[in-house]
Amino acid sequence: MSHSNTPAPRLIALQADITTLAVDAIVNAANASLLGGGGVDGAIHRAAGPELLAECRRLGGCATGQARMTGAYRLPCRHVIHAVGPIWRGGAQGEADLLRACYTHSLDLAVRHGLKSLAFPCISTGVYGYPADQAAPIAVAAVRQHPGLAALDQVVFCCFSAAHLALYQRLI
Ligand code: AR6
Repeated sequence: MSHSNTPAPRLIALQADITTLAVDAIVNAANASLLGGGGVDGAIHRAAGPELLAECRRLGGCATGQARMTGAYRLPCRHVIHAVGPIWRGGAQGEADLLRACYTHSLDLAVRHGLKSLAFPCISTGVYGYPADQAAPIAVAAVRQHPGLAALDQVVFCCFSAAHLALYQRLI
């Protein structure tokens, strides 16, 4: 329960291709090079166009658990926040803390830049192998517990599959 006078921002779960969302920022599940890859990262770079890769090259990479913001170029959103999730190695290698940090640092950037709406993919749950049923509660808790959350109007958990959507619908 919120004890603040500010209305809580709306947390919603959708099944969608994140590249279609016209929010202030979409979050990319990137790798430490920030130079693109498969999955949602590939989809974002394809839809944004080559200018995104050019801007990412200038950033010089990003550590796991951290996030960097760029323009969105041909995407309908205004910014892309590139967060580097952990590779799942069984769960005892700090994966949960690193995954939580991706959400927290992405929200830090959104709040610092005055953004109002943000959409997250299910970071690390594809190529990086993080079990989606363990990742979803970490994602939701990290967002709910963020100290700057009241400055945002909407946070979207953008699920690519119906199975992932069902996980989030149970949590929010
Ligand atoms: N919109 C929303 N979600 C998507 C989309 C999309 N267009 N495409 C895939 N997903 P992944 P990771 C979901 O593999 O596990 C890349 O090569 C997908 O179903 O994209 O963090 C990077 O460069 C899954 O639930 O990212 C890194 O090397 C989620 O996005 C590595 O993969 C994340 O899957 C990162 O692996």
